[in-house]
Amino acid sequence: MKKFTFILVACTIMLKPMAKADEGMWLPMLLGEQVYADMVKKGLKVTKEQLYSMNQACIKDAIIIFGGGCTGEIVSKEGLIFTNHHCGYGAIASASSVEHNYLKDGFWAKSKAEEIYSPGLTVQFLVKIADVSNQVSEKIKDIPAKELNQKLPAILNELANKETEGTGFEARIVPMFKGNQYLLFVYERYKDVRLVGTPPENIGKFGGDTDNWEWPRHTGDFSIFRVYANKEGKPAEYSADNVPLKPKYSLPVSIKGVKDGDYTMIWGYPGGTNRYETSFGVKLKTDIENPSLVSLREKRLEFMLKEMKKDPAVKIQLASYYAQVANYWKFFDGESKQLLKHKVFEEKQADEKAFTTWASGKPEYENLFKEYEKIYNEWRPYAKQLSYMKEGIFGSPLIAFANTLLALDNALSQKESYKEGVTKAIETAKSAYERFINSENVASDKNILAFVTEAFYTDIDASQHPAGFYEMINKKFGDLKNKSTYESFSKDVVSNTILLDKTKWNNFISNPDTAILRKDPAFSMARIFSTNFNLRYATLFNEFNNQNFILGKTYLKGVLEMNKGKKAMYPDANFTMRVSYGKVNSYSPKDAVNYNYYTTLSGVLDKYKPGDYEFDLPTKLIELAKNKDFGQYADATTKDIVVGFISSNDITGGNSGSPVLNGKGELIGLAFDGNYEALSHKIKFDKDLNRTINVDIRYVLWVVDKIGGATNIINELDLRKM
Ligand code: ARG
Repeated sequence: MKKFTFILVACTIMLKPMAKADEGMWLPMLLGEQVYADMVKKGLKVTKEQLYSMNQACIKDAIIIFGGGCTGEIVSKEGLIFTNHHCGYGAIASASSVEHNYLKDGFWAKSKAEEIYSPGLTVQFLVKIADVSNQVSEKIKDIPAKELNQKLPAILNELANKETEGTGFEARIVPMFKGNQYLLFVYERYKDVRLVGTPPENIGKFGGDTDNWEWPRHTGDFSIFRVYANKEGKPAEYSADNVPLKPKYSLPVSIKGVKDGDYTMIWGYPGGTNRYETSFGVKLKTDIENPSLVSLREKRLEFMLKEMKKDPAVKIQLASYYAQVANYWKFFDGESKQLLKHKVFEEKQADEKAFTTWASGKPEYENLFKEYEKIYNEWRPYAKQLSYMKEGIFGSPLIAFANTLLALDNALSQKESYKEGVTKAIETAKSAYERFINSENVASDKNILAFVTEAFYTDIDASQHPAGFYEMINKKFGDLKNKSTYESFSKDVVSNTILLDKTKWNNFISNPDTAILRKDPAFSMARIFSTNFNLRYATLFNEFNNQNFILGKTYLKGVLEMNKGKKAMYPDANFTMRVSYGKVNSYSPKDAVNYNYYTTLSGVLDKYKPGDYEFDLPTKLIELAKNKDFGQYADATTKDIVVGFISSNDITGGNSGSPVLNGKGELIGLAFDGNYEALSHKIKFDKDLNRTINVDIRYVLWVVDKIGGATNIINELDLRKM
């Protein structure tokens, strides 16, 4: 282990020629001199300590984890937060009702008293980082390799908890380079977060799913929150007595504007990449996993959208879930297309061949890809079934909830001595039920259930169907070749399950009984499919994951050894703080087409379709645009409002809401998306085509000021005009 750590330090710090300039999600605390020097060469004007320091307030102190999977940044001395509209979306939807529809109409707090507390929403500040590779390797040295993948999370948790016991902080230990290094991250989590402002959806989500993952883009994807603390500045549950947090550092905001080639730096929490995915993994994805997910989601979305368009209350209820499903439906469809188009499978094969040549005569590495081939061949015949269970059967929210009750069923089936387990399972089930029932739309779920049950029957090899299940449907509801059979089945499930009847549920949960649960049609469906998987395929699947984990660690160890002194390496994204640097950068997506680096308000109006679900606009925006009422936010060159711009930074999901900073560390935009032509980016970074899509901060401020009339927010910022 020690040796790996040494190699890694060498890799991050001493490496010479920078590979592709804009690829890389660097750990800001381990920025080597070479990487920092390259940043300076490209236009960075601040010192290393101003970027990241343990001893003085610095940029890193303004970068936060927003909610469960986004980034936010602190932009005022009173804890004001900027993030994306799609990151605040759940909180905005929760605060909305048909009468006070902030999703539709927007919301602007004109004073702190008007800000709206968002239950469940938290933000986390990074407190410290430490390399704990030695402690971890000490703990895991006696664990057999094939058990490690399963046991590791609990071990890391225990070590992390020990580090923060009694401090009020939270810690997480994260493997880097597929387990060749372990870093400890300590966070402080604030729980009183309030909505300050949001544009209406026809600005914040303008272009909807049609424009999602695409450039040219005209979305005003931002929302504004504030973090509150107790009087001592410490995290506290919501209370009217809480006060705005006085942050260590807040970002200044530049309204000078950007031009092609300008330095850009994006800080945040990229969620996941797999840049050392093997050719076998790529093939499994493009052949089986992605197409399955895409086709199943497409239908689920269709059924939901139908109900959302009918009823504004359903629209609010399903908005956030729908958006999440839709976002990665389009992503995985695009990912497959780009992986195939860019011949990533063939590129990976070439990389693997080069590795194997290097590895010749090194017993640890030379047969690695033969072993990969073997494990993929063994798992592949069952992969589609797993996708159809996860994205199909459990794509019905009813069946997904029913499946969570397996834990309760389990606890109830244990002996008397397991009382404690039962009490815990009941509590968990109760709170899961609240979430489920408040977000459940029966009309769409009924259609989803019929569709996914039929899809599983039709698309999955009969030998992998759960025993007896389809015979039962056939006997009770008719011919398995008819769509109407599945419709009758799903109608029967939703009419007879106790899970959709609050009174029956309450009766059940106050005195839970496995006999009742197992008779329930929704629960039995969940149980039948889960059991089918658990009994017949889970062992194989775990074995596949274990081997993948072991081989992956060896592969990366080899790659690090092979590249030592030659190539700078950064660890895959894993929702830890990263900085990526690049420049404002136009591109050519295909032959004869050039994409400019910015979009404007005129372009917004060009896309306007009155009354459309995705391309409608607020009257006020149209009026202001017509009168060219741009104030201090107008762009000097275009005499228009610049809405979005693109840059060459390397980011991914989780970076949403991330600040885009100029060379002086001033905020110039918020990152919110990646471009379609490079949707293979999680697996391979494309140095010609990869772009980050950002909303220009001047558009954000123009909307806040002129449409929202929230000059109180503008006045809080540290605006830089030069
Ligand atoms: N693609 C964006 C991201 O993953 C999310 C955009 C949300 N908008 C939407 N139409 N679903 O960061």
